[in-house]
Amino acid sequence: PLTVKVNSDDCLEIGGCDVTTLVQQFGSPLYILDEDTLRLACRQYRDAFKQYYQGEAQVLYASKAWNCLAVCAIAASEGLGIDVVSGGELYTALTAGVSPEKIYLHGNNKSHSELVLAIESGVTIVVDNWQELHNLVELTQNTQPVRIMLRLTPGIECHTHEYIRTGHLDSKFGFDPNDLDEMFTFVSKQPSLNCIGLHAHIGSQIFELQPHRDLAAVMVQWFRDTAKYGLNLTELNIGGGLGICYTESDDPPSIEDWVKVICEVLQETCAAENLPLPKLLCEPGRSLIATSCVTAYTIGATKIVPEIRTYLSVDGGMSDNPRPITYQSVYRAVVANKMSAPITQTVTVAGKHCESGDILIKNAQLPKTEPGDILVVMATGAYNYSMASNYNRLPRPAAVVVANGEANLILQRETYQDLIRQDCLPERLKI
Ligand code: LLP
Repeated sequence: PLTVKVNSDDCLEIGGCDVTTLVQQFGSPLYILDEDTLRLACRQYRDAFKQYYQGEAQVLYASKAWNCLAVCAIAASEGLGIDVVSGGELYTALTAGVSPEKIYLHGNNKSHSELVLAIESGVTIVVDNWQELHNLVELTQNTQPVRIMLRLTPGIECHTHEYIRTGHLDSKFGFDPNDLDEMFTFVSKQPSLNCIGLHAHIGSQIFELQPHRDLAAVMVQWFRDTAKYGLNLTELNIGGGLGICYTESDDPPSIEDWVKVICEVLQETCAAENLPLPKLLCEPGRSLIATSCVTAYTIGATKIVPEIRTYLSVDGGMSDNPRPITYQSVYRAVVANKMSAPITQTVTVAGKHCESGDILIKNAQLPKTEPGDILVVMATGAYNYSMASNYNRLPRPAAVVVANGEANLILQRETYQDLIRQDCLPERLKI
Protein backbone atom coordinates (compact mmCIF):
# COMPACT_ATOMS: atom_id res chain seq x y z
CA PRO A 1 0.00 0.00 0.00
CA LEU A 2 1.15 3.44 -0.96
CA THR A 3 2.05 5.85 1.84
CA VAL A 4 -0.45 8.58 1.00
CA LYS A 5 -1.76 11.38 3.13
CA VAL A 6 -4.16 14.26 2.67
CA ASN A 7 -2.62 17.53 3.88
CA SER A 8 -4.24 20.62 5.35
CA ASP A 9 -4.82 22.08 1.85
CA ASP A 10 -6.95 18.99 1.08
CA CYS A 11 -4.25 17.85 -1.34
CA LEU A 12 -2.79 14.40 -1.86
CA GLU A 13 0.67 13.88 -0.42
CA ILE A 14 2.96 11.04 -1.44
CA GLY A 15 6.30 10.43 0.22
CA GLY A 16 5.78 13.70 2.07
CA CYS A 17 5.39 15.69 -1.19
CA ASP A 18 2.25 17.55 -2.22
CA VAL A 19 1.28 16.15 -5.62
CA THR A 20 -0.06 19.50 -6.88
CA THR A 21 3.25 21.15 -6.00
CA LEU A 22 5.13 18.38 -7.80
CA VAL A 23 3.08 19.06 -10.93
CA GLN A 24 3.82 22.80 -10.68
CA GLN A 25 7.50 21.99 -10.39
CA PHE A 26 7.89 19.12 -12.88
CA GLY A 27 4.85 19.50 -15.16
CA SER A 28 2.34 16.83 -16.13
CA PRO A 29 1.80 14.06 -16.93
CA LEU A 30 4.17 13.03 -14.18
CA TYR A 31 5.05 9.58 -12.87
CA ILE A 32 5.55 9.81 -9.10
CA LEU A 33 7.42 6.89 -7.55
CA ASP A 34 7.24 6.43 -3.79
CA GLU A 35 10.60 5.06 -2.71
CA ASP A 36 9.42 3.70 0.66
CA THR A 37 6.64 1.66 -0.93
CA LEU A 38 9.02 0.12 -3.45
CA ARG A 39 11.59 -0.68 -0.76
CA LEU A 40 8.88 -2.17 1.43
CA ALA A 41 7.79 -4.57 -1.32
CA CYS A 42 11.42 -5.61 -1.91
CA ARG A 43 11.75 -6.34 1.81
CA GLN A 44 8.46 -8.23 1.95
CA TYR A 45 9.74 -10.65 -0.68
CA ARG A 46 13.15 -10.97 0.92
CA ASP A 47 11.81 -11.42 4.44
CA ALA A 48 9.21 -13.97 3.35
CA PHE A 49 11.93 -16.17 1.83
CA LYS A 50 13.99 -15.76 4.98
CA GLN A 51 11.02 -16.91 7.02
CA TYR A 52 9.71 -19.76 4.88
CA TYR A 53 12.67 -21.17 2.97
CA GLN A 54 15.32 -23.24 4.62
CA GLY A 55 17.69 -23.01 1.65
CA GLU A 56 19.27 -20.06 -0.10
CA ALA A 57 16.97 -17.69 -1.99
CA GLN A 58 17.42 -14.72 -4.32
CA VAL A 59 14.69 -12.35 -5.44
CA LEU A 60 15.19 -10.77 -8.84
CA TYR A 61 13.29 -7.69 -9.95
CA ALA A 62 11.71 -8.28 -13.38
CA SER A 63 12.79 -4.92 -14.69
CA LYS A 64 10.55 -5.08 -17.77
CA ALA A 65 7.94 -3.66 -15.39
CA TRP A 66 9.97 -0.44 -15.19
CA ASN A 67 13.58 -0.38 -16.24
CA CYS A 68 15.61 2.77 -15.64
CA LEU A 69 18.79 3.59 -13.70
CA ALA A 70 17.09 4.73 -10.49
CA VAL A 71 14.68 1.81 -10.21
CA CYS A 72 17.47 -0.72 -10.87
CA ALA A 73 19.59 1.02 -8.23
CA ILE A 74 16.83 0.95 -5.61
CA ALA A 75 16.07 -2.74 -6.23
CA ALA A 76 19.76 -3.66 -6.13
CA SER A 77 20.32 -1.67 -2.95
CA GLU A 78 17.63 -3.84 -1.33
CA GLY A 79 19.69 -6.91 -2.24
CA LEU A 80 17.60 -7.90 -5.25
CA GLY A 81 19.07 -9.16 -8.48
CA ILE A 82 17.70 -7.92 -11.82
CA ASP A 83 15.98 -9.83 -14.61
CA VAL A 84 16.51 -8.18 -18.00
CA VAL A 85 15.06 -9.14 -21.37
CA SER A 86 17.05 -7.16 -23.90
CA GLY A 87 20.41 -5.54 -24.52
CA GLY A 88 18.86 -2.21 -23.57
CA GLU A 89 17.62 -3.42 -20.20
CA LEU A 90 20.92 -5.20 -19.61
CA TYR A 91 22.92 -2.08 -20.44
CA THR A 92 20.75 -0.03 -18.07
CA ALA A 93 21.16 -2.49 -15.19
CA LEU A 94 24.94 -2.67 -15.69
CA THR A 95 25.17 1.12 -15.90
CA ALA A 96 23.16 1.40 -12.68
CA GLY A 97 25.97 -0.59 -11.06
CA VAL A 98 24.15 -3.89 -10.58
CA SER A 99 26.61 -6.72 -10.12
CA PRO A 100 26.66 -9.06 -13.18
CA GLU A 101 26.41 -12.12 -10.90
CA LYS A 102 22.94 -10.90 -9.98
CA ILE A 103 21.70 -10.19 -13.54
CA TYR A 104 19.78 -12.76 -15.59
CA LEU A 105 19.11 -12.22 -19.29
CA HIS A 106 15.85 -13.55 -20.71
CA GLY A 107 14.32 -13.43 -24.17
CA ASN A 108 12.98 -15.81 -26.81
CA ASN A 109 15.03 -14.27 -29.62
CA LYS A 110 18.20 -12.78 -28.24
CA SER A 111 20.30 -11.22 -30.94
CA HIS A 112 23.93 -11.98 -31.61
CA SER A 113 24.98 -8.67 -30.07
CA GLU A 114 22.78 -9.17 -27.01
CA LEU A 115 24.41 -12.56 -26.41
CA VAL A 116 27.87 -11.08 -26.90
CA LEU A 117 27.13 -8.29 -24.40
CA ALA A 118 25.82 -10.88 -21.92
CA ILE A 119 28.89 -13.12 -22.34
CA GLU A 120 31.33 -10.21 -22.07
CA SER A 121 29.66 -8.77 -19.00
CA GLY A 122 29.41 -12.13 -17.23
CA VAL A 123 25.67 -12.24 -16.56
CA THR A 124 23.63 -15.46 -16.51
CA ILE A 125 21.81 -16.25 -19.75
CA VAL A 126 18.41 -17.90 -19.50
CA VAL A 127 18.38 -19.97 -22.69
CA ASP A 128 14.97 -20.16 -24.32
CA ASN A 129 15.29 -22.45 -27.36
CA TRP A 130 17.45 -24.67 -29.56
CA GLN A 131 18.54 -21.91 -31.88
CA GLU A 132 19.90 -19.94 -28.96
CA LEU A 133 21.71 -22.99 -27.58
CA HIS A 134 23.46 -23.47 -30.92
CA ASN A 135 24.29 -19.78 -31.17
CA LEU A 136 25.78 -19.85 -27.69
CA VAL A 137 27.89 -22.93 -28.38
CA GLU A 138 29.32 -21.12 -31.38
CA LEU A 139 29.92 -17.85 -29.53
CA THR A 140 31.66 -19.53 -26.58
CA GLN A 141 34.24 -21.57 -28.49
CA ASN A 142 37.03 -19.34 -27.24
CA THR A 143 35.61 -17.95 -24.04
CA GLN A 144 35.42 -19.05 -20.44
CA PRO A 145 32.37 -21.25 -19.81
CA VAL A 146 29.23 -19.09 -19.55
CA ARG A 147 26.57 -19.50 -16.90
CA ILE A 148 23.22 -20.48 -18.35
CA MET A 149 19.81 -21.53 -17.11
CA LEU A 150 17.22 -23.33 -19.23
CA ARG A 151 13.71 -21.98 -19.66
CA LEU A 152 11.04 -24.67 -19.78
CA THR A 153 7.38 -24.48 -20.79
CA PRO A 154 5.63 -26.11 -17.87
CA GLY A 155 2.21 -26.56 -19.51
CA ILE A 156 0.38 -24.87 -16.67
CA GLU A 157 -2.72 -22.83 -17.40
CA CYS A 158 -3.66 -19.83 -15.31
CA HIS A 159 -6.51 -17.37 -15.41
CA THR A 160 -5.24 -14.09 -16.72
CA HIS A 161 -5.36 -12.06 -19.92
CA GLU A 162 -4.33 -14.27 -22.86
CA TYR A 163 -1.60 -11.81 -23.90
CA ILE A 164 0.20 -12.24 -20.59
CA ARG A 165 -0.06 -16.01 -20.17
CA THR A 166 3.21 -17.78 -20.81
CA GLY A 167 3.17 -21.18 -19.15
CA HIS A 168 0.74 -23.00 -21.45
CA LEU A 169 2.21 -25.45 -23.94
CA ASP A 170 1.68 -23.38 -27.08
CA SER A 171 3.49 -20.39 -25.57
CA LYS A 172 6.33 -18.95 -27.65
CA PHE A 173 8.64 -19.16 -24.62
CA GLY A 174 10.86 -21.97 -23.46
CA PHE A 175 11.69 -25.58 -24.29
CA ASP A 176 8.82 -27.98 -24.87
CA PRO A 177 8.65 -30.70 -22.18
CA ASN A 178 8.91 -33.33 -24.96
CA ASP A 179 12.34 -31.98 -25.93
CA LEU A 180 13.89 -32.16 -22.50
CA ASP A 181 15.65 -35.49 -22.88
CA GLU A 182 17.39 -34.43 -26.07
CA MET A 183 18.08 -30.95 -24.73
CA PHE A 184 19.58 -32.03 -21.39
CA THR A 185 21.74 -34.59 -23.24
CA PHE A 186 22.98 -31.88 -25.59
CA VAL A 187 23.66 -29.34 -22.83
CA SER A 188 25.51 -31.87 -20.70
CA LYS A 189 28.01 -32.35 -23.51
CA GLN A 190 28.89 -28.66 -23.92
CA PRO A 191 32.04 -27.77 -21.98
CA SER A 192 31.53 -24.06 -22.71
CA LEU A 193 28.05 -23.97 -21.15
CA ASN A 194 27.90 -24.09 -17.40
CA CYS A 195 24.26 -24.92 -16.79
CA ILE A 196 23.28 -23.88 -13.27
CA GLY A 197 19.52 -24.30 -13.22
CA LEU A 198 16.02 -24.28 -14.62
CA HIS A 199 13.51 -21.49 -15.11
CA ALA A 200 9.80 -21.16 -15.84
CA HIS A 201 7.30 -18.32 -15.73
CA ILE A 202 3.60 -18.96 -16.16
CA GLY A 203 2.05 -15.53 -16.62
CA SER A 204 1.27 -12.23 -15.02
CA GLN A 205 -1.42 -10.61 -12.81
CA ILE A 206 -2.34 -14.04 -11.39
CA PHE A 207 -4.67 -14.14 -8.38
CA GLU A 208 -4.69 -17.88 -7.68
CA LEU A 209 -1.99 -19.72 -5.75
CA GLN A 210 -2.65 -23.13 -7.27
CA PRO A 211 -0.79 -22.57 -10.58
CA HIS A 212 2.39 -21.63 -8.74
CA ARG A 213 1.95 -24.59 -6.40
CA ASP A 214 1.73 -26.84 -9.48
CA LEU A 215 4.67 -25.10 -11.09
CA ALA A 216 6.93 -25.59 -8.09
CA ALA A 217 6.05 -29.30 -7.97
CA VAL A 218 6.70 -29.83 -11.70
CA MET A 219 9.97 -27.93 -11.57
CA VAL A 220 11.33 -30.07 -8.75
CA GLN A 221 10.63 -33.21 -10.80
CA TRP A 222 12.53 -31.82 -13.78
CA PHE A 223 15.29 -30.63 -11.53
CA ARG A 224 15.64 -34.15 -10.11
CA ASP A 225 15.63 -35.68 -13.60
CA THR A 226 18.61 -33.61 -14.72
CA ALA A 227 20.92 -35.58 -12.40
CA LYS A 228 20.89 -38.56 -14.74
CA TYR A 229 22.43 -36.43 -17.48
CA GLY A 230 25.29 -35.51 -15.18
CA LEU A 231 24.07 -31.92 -14.92
CA ASN A 232 24.86 -30.55 -11.53
CA LEU A 233 22.16 -27.92 -11.16
CA THR A 234 21.83 -25.66 -8.15
CA GLU A 235 19.23 -22.98 -9.02
CA LEU A 236 15.50 -23.10 -9.60
CA ASN A 237 13.69 -19.98 -10.82
CA ILE A 238 9.90 -20.01 -10.62
CA GLY A 239 9.36 -16.66 -12.37
CA GLY A 240 6.99 -13.92 -11.27
CA GLY A 241 3.33 -13.29 -11.85
CA LEU A 242 1.71 -12.39 -8.55
CA GLY A 243 -1.22 -10.05 -9.22
CA ILE A 244 -1.84 -6.70 -7.56
CA CYS A 245 -4.82 -4.63 -6.54
CA TYR A 246 -5.76 -2.05 -9.21
CA THR A 247 -9.24 -1.42 -7.84
CA GLU A 248 -11.10 -2.17 -4.61
CA SER A 249 -12.60 -5.34 -6.08
CA ASP A 250 -9.18 -6.93 -6.75
CA ASP A 251 -8.14 -9.33 -4.03
CA PRO A 252 -4.74 -10.90 -4.77
CA PRO A 253 -2.84 -13.05 -2.26
CA SER A 254 -0.19 -11.26 -0.23
CA ILE A 255 3.49 -11.46 -1.14
CA GLU A 256 4.01 -13.48 2.02
CA ASP A 257 1.32 -16.04 1.09
CA TRP A 258 2.68 -16.42 -2.42
CA VAL A 259 6.23 -17.03 -1.21
CA LYS A 260 5.01 -19.34 1.55
CA VAL A 261 3.10 -21.61 -0.84
CA ILE A 262 6.06 -21.96 -3.17
CA CYS A 263 8.51 -22.65 -0.36
CA GLU A 264 6.22 -25.23 1.20
CA VAL A 265 5.71 -27.18 -2.02
CA LEU A 266 9.39 -27.11 -2.81
CA GLN A 267 10.44 -28.20 0.63
CA GLU A 268 7.84 -30.96 0.78
CA THR A 269 8.71 -32.29 -2.65
CA CYS A 270 12.44 -32.15 -2.04
CA ALA A 271 12.04 -33.92 1.29
CA ALA A 272 9.86 -36.64 -0.27
CA GLU A 273 12.42 -37.18 -3.05
CA ASN A 274 15.36 -36.90 -0.71
CA LEU A 275 16.84 -34.03 -2.72
CA PRO A 276 18.93 -31.15 -1.43
CA LEU A 277 17.09 -27.79 -1.57
CA PRO A 278 17.99 -25.79 -4.64
CA LYS A 279 18.84 -22.10 -4.49
CA LEU A 280 15.38 -20.66 -5.08
CA LEU A 281 14.90 -17.66 -7.34
CA CYS A 282 11.80 -15.75 -8.29
CA GLU A 283 11.39 -12.68 -10.47
CA PRO A 284 8.37 -10.55 -9.67
CA GLY A 285 7.87 -7.29 -11.55
CA ARG A 286 4.37 -5.95 -11.10
CA SER A 287 3.96 -6.90 -7.44
CA LEU A 288 7.22 -5.15 -6.59
CA ILE A 289 6.58 -1.83 -8.25
CA ALA A 290 3.00 -1.31 -9.46
CA THR A 291 1.48 0.22 -6.35
CA SER A 292 4.49 2.39 -5.56
CA CYS A 293 3.77 4.77 -8.44
CA VAL A 294 0.94 7.07 -9.51
CA THR A 295 0.55 9.21 -12.62
CA ALA A 296 -0.55 12.82 -12.19
CA TYR A 297 -2.37 14.48 -15.10
CA THR A 298 -3.87 17.92 -15.57
CA ILE A 299 -7.57 17.92 -16.38
CA GLY A 300 -8.55 19.88 -19.50
CA ALA A 301 -11.63 19.70 -21.70
CA THR A 302 -14.97 18.19 -20.70
CA LYS A 303 -17.57 16.91 -23.15
CA ILE A 304 -21.04 16.00 -22.02
CA VAL A 305 -22.93 13.61 -24.27
CA PRO A 306 -26.43 14.10 -22.82
CA GLU A 307 -27.78 11.08 -21.05
CA ILE A 308 -24.87 8.94 -22.15
CA ARG A 309 -21.60 10.03 -20.62
CA THR A 310 -19.24 12.79 -19.64
CA TYR A 311 -15.74 12.73 -21.09
CA LEU A 312 -13.06 14.28 -18.95
CA SER A 313 -9.85 14.69 -20.91
CA VAL A 314 -6.37 14.68 -19.44
CA ASP A 315 -3.01 15.71 -20.88
CA GLY A 316 -1.69 12.16 -21.40
CA GLY A 317 -3.28 8.83 -22.22
CA MET A 318 -2.42 5.66 -24.09
CA SER A 319 1.14 6.86 -24.75
CA ASP A 320 2.02 6.95 -21.05
CA ASN A 321 -0.35 4.14 -20.02
CA PRO A 322 -1.14 1.72 -22.84
CA ARG A 323 -2.58 -0.92 -20.49
CA PRO A 324 -6.29 0.02 -20.68
CA ILE A 325 -6.33 -0.01 -24.48
CA THR A 326 -4.14 -3.12 -24.69
CA TYR A 327 -5.58 -5.33 -21.95
CA GLN A 328 -8.79 -3.52 -20.95
CA SER A 329 -7.09 -2.90 -17.60
CA VAL A 330 -9.07 -1.05 -14.99
CA TYR A 331 -7.60 1.79 -12.95
CA ARG A 332 -8.73 3.98 -10.08
CA ALA A 333 -8.27 7.75 -9.86
CA VAL A 334 -8.59 10.59 -7.36
CA VAL A 335 -8.49 14.37 -7.76
CA ALA A 336 -5.31 15.40 -5.95
CA ASN A 337 -6.44 18.93 -5.07
CA LYS A 338 -9.95 17.94 -3.90
CA MET A 339 -9.31 14.93 -1.76
CA SER A 340 -12.26 15.27 0.59
CA ALA A 341 -14.76 16.80 -1.83
CA PRO A 342 -17.88 14.64 -2.19
CA ILE A 343 -18.02 12.21 -5.12
CA THR A 344 -20.71 13.60 -7.40
CA GLN A 345 -20.02 12.29 -10.88
CA THR A 346 -19.21 9.21 -12.91
CA VAL A 347 -17.01 10.17 -15.84
CA THR A 348 -15.03 8.62 -18.65
CA VAL A 349 -11.42 9.69 -18.29
CA ALA A 350 -10.10 10.15 -21.82
CA GLY A 351 -6.55 10.62 -23.02
CA LYS A 352 -5.55 13.23 -25.57
CA HIS A 353 -4.65 10.88 -28.41
CA CYS A 354 -6.37 10.83 -31.76
CA GLU A 355 -8.00 7.53 -31.15
CA SER A 356 -11.46 6.82 -29.71
CA GLY A 357 -10.12 3.87 -27.74
CA ASP A 358 -7.79 6.16 -25.82
CA ILE A 359 -9.78 5.89 -22.59
CA LEU A 360 -7.88 5.58 -19.32
CA ILE A 361 -10.83 4.84 -17.02
CA LYS A 362 -14.38 3.99 -18.03
CA ASN A 363 -16.40 4.79 -14.91
CA ALA A 364 -14.33 6.99 -12.67
CA GLN A 365 -16.13 8.20 -9.55
CA LEU A 366 -14.96 11.76 -8.98
CA PRO A 367 -15.89 15.00 -7.30
CA LYS A 368 -16.91 17.97 -9.43
CA THR A 369 -13.83 18.98 -11.44
CA GLU A 370 -12.59 22.02 -13.32
CA PRO A 371 -9.86 22.46 -15.90
CA GLY A 372 -6.53 22.66 -14.11
CA ASP A 373 -7.45 20.11 -11.45
CA ILE A 374 -4.93 17.31 -11.00
CA LEU A 375 -6.16 13.80 -11.66
CA VAL A 376 -4.06 11.05 -10.14
CA VAL A 377 -4.28 7.52 -11.50
CA MET A 378 -3.16 4.97 -8.93
CA ALA A 379 -0.91 1.92 -9.25
CA THR A 380 0.86 2.87 -12.49
CA GLY A 381 4.34 1.62 -11.56
CA ALA A 382 4.30 -1.53 -13.65
CA TYR A 383 4.27 -1.63 -17.44
CA ASN A 384 3.39 2.06 -17.86
CA TYR A 385 6.65 3.93 -18.39
CA SER A 386 8.21 0.73 -19.74
CA MET A 387 5.51 0.44 -22.42
CA ALA A 388 5.18 4.17 -23.05
CA SER A 389 5.38 5.42 -26.63
CA ASN A 390 5.59 8.67 -28.52
CA TYR A 391 2.27 8.07 -30.29
CA ASN A 392 1.05 11.34 -31.82
CA ARG A 393 4.54 12.62 -31.04
CA LEU A 394 3.79 13.23 -27.41
CA PRO A 395 7.01 13.56 -25.44
CA ARG A 396 7.32 10.87 -22.77
CA PRO A 397 6.55 12.22 -19.26
CA ALA A 398 9.05 12.93 -16.53
CA ALA A 399 9.32 10.73 -13.46
CA VAL A 400 10.30 11.70 -9.94
CA VAL A 401 11.13 9.59 -6.92
CA VAL A 402 9.74 10.92 -3.64
CA ALA A 403 10.89 10.16 -0.09
CA ASN A 404 10.74 12.11 3.18
CA GLY A 405 9.36 15.23 1.55
CA GLU A 406 12.04 15.33 -1.14
CA ALA A 407 11.47 14.80 -4.86
CA ASN A 408 14.24 13.94 -7.32
CA LEU A 409 13.98 13.62 -11.05
CA ILE A 410 14.66 10.07 -12.28
CA LEU A 411 13.53 10.51 -15.88
CA GLN A 412 13.61 13.81 -17.65
CA ARG A 413 10.55 14.87 -19.59
CA GLU A 414 11.25 14.44 -23.30
CA THR A 415 11.39 17.60 -25.35
CA TYR A 416 10.33 18.31 -28.93
CA GLN A 417 14.05 18.26 -29.80
CA ASP A 418 14.24 14.74 -28.34
CA LEU A 419 11.37 13.74 -30.60
CA ILE A 420 13.20 14.66 -33.77
CA ARG A 421 16.68 13.66 -32.55
CA GLN A 422 16.67 10.42 -34.57
CA ASP A 423 14.88 11.91 -37.59
CA CYS A 424 16.93 12.25 -40.76
CA LEU A 425 15.94 14.47 -43.64
CA PRO A 426 17.83 13.39 -46.77
CA GLU A 427 19.13 16.35 -48.77
CA ARG A 428 16.94 15.56 -51.76
CA LEU A 429 13.77 15.69 -49.64
CA LYS A 430 14.38 19.12 -48.19
CA ILE A 431 11.71 21.70 -48.99
N1 LLP B 1 9.66 -13.29 -15.62
C1 LLP B 1 9.37 -13.44 -16.91
C2 LLP B 1 10.13 -14.40 -17.71
C3 LLP B 1 8.35 -12.67 -17.49
O1 LLP B 1 8.06 -12.83 -18.77
C4 LLP B 1 7.64 -11.73 -16.69
C5 LLP B 1 6.60 -10.91 -17.27
C6 LLP B 1 8.00 -11.61 -15.35
C7 LLP B 1 9.01 -12.41 -14.84
C8 LLP B 1 7.33 -10.63 -14.42
O2 LLP B 1 5.99 -10.88 -14.25
P1 LLP B 1 5.14 -10.04 -13.20
O3 LLP B 1 5.63 -10.39 -11.83
O4 LLP B 1 5.35 -8.60 -13.50
O5 LLP B 1 3.76 -10.45 -13.43
N2 LLP B 1 2.80 -5.87 -20.22
C9 LLP B 1 1.91 -6.73 -19.46
C10 LLP B 1 2.66 -7.69 -18.60
C11 LLP B 1 3.59 -8.56 -19.38
C12 LLP B 1 4.39 -9.45 -18.50
C13 LLP B 1 5.49 -10.08 -19.26
N3 LLP B 1 6.33 -10.93 -18.50
C14 LLP B 1 0.98 -5.88 -18.61
O6 LLP B 1 1.06 -4.66 -18.68
O7 LLP B 1 0.14 -6.41 -17.89
